[in-house]
Amino acid sequence: MTGLRSKDLLGIADLTKEEIELILDVADSFREVSERSIKKVPALRGRTVVNLFCEPSTRTRTSFEIAAKRLSADAVNINVSASSIAKGESLRDTAITLQAMATDLVVVRHSASGAAKLLGDVMECPVVNAGDGSHEHPTQALLDVYTLRNRFGSLEGLKVAIVGDIAHSRVARSNALALTKMGAEVAFVGPPTLMPAEAEKLGARVFFNLDDVLECADVVYLLRMQLERQKGSLYPSVREYAALYGMNGVRRRAMKRGSIIMHQGPLNRGIEITSDVADTTDSLISDQVTNGVAVRMAVLYLLMGGGPDER
Ligand code: CP
Repeated sequence: MTGLRSKDLLGIADLTKEEIELILDVADSFREVSERSIKKVPALRGRTVVNLFCEPSTRTRTSFEIAAKRLSADAVNINVSASSIAKGESLRDTAITLQAMATDLVVVRHSASGAAKLLGDVMECPVVNAGDGSHEHPTQALLDVYTLRNRFGSLEGLKVAIVGDIAHSRVARSNALALTKMGAEVAFVGPPTLMPAEAEKLGARVFFNLDDVLECADVVYLLRMQLERQKGSLYPSVREYAALYGMNGVRRRAMKRGSIIMHQGPLNRGIEITSDVADTTDSLISDQVTNGVAVRMAVLYLLMGGGPDER
């Protein structure tokens, strides 16, 4: 396989296992670019990548910008609060405007599920979903799968527990889809009020007690509490949530030898994870961030058709 079938990357649901493997293999070939003193290859010279982030982001926005620049593309970040979106311009008209400026690829983050698809339908150039509401965050799942493949060699039979606010989490959805396509076994763990109805359709087994999965999990993936998407009180208190579902030193010691901890960031320290667990070497949180650049370089490269001689 030499390319992706679709013009856009909107979700893991649209990718085959072979396409995921292609992205990971291309990411592997780009990883060493970030270790050079001059961190640049000419693969996308002369192309323009626009970052349109209508929700806050540190990791995803910055790594897409760095990825574009390491491929020699021009990266433009739209400051949404100072743009015409703030004056009421629709997403569709924003897309038409960017199209008229010969943009070569748009990366979009939006609070509405389906916003990336809307943009992809309007624009001729590729669109990458950098997180749409509680729907999907495909490049997060790809960098997570890439991080796990580097650590364990293969994901076949790997037991991954995804813990927390599953119902509002695009990261949980994209990861469940990517992990199961790659052969891992996925458990969703969280309070019933934060568990989506379609958990089993995503290929995940459901648990309400974190302590039931700790002994057999190879990976515990803590989710950020999506306070911005919750309506009303879905658990009694933050303190109670931390006691029942937070990863701490005691729970970490109950996990098996060789197991690892992941988190998509940003961390709510003391809620879903304590610092003594987050900051140890068997937590892969920094590796996830590092790998995000190589994976996003691969996505940009594959969607914009960079030549094989230019890597
Ligand atoms: N993991 C993630 O999407 O982080 P940001 O919100 O900082 O981009």
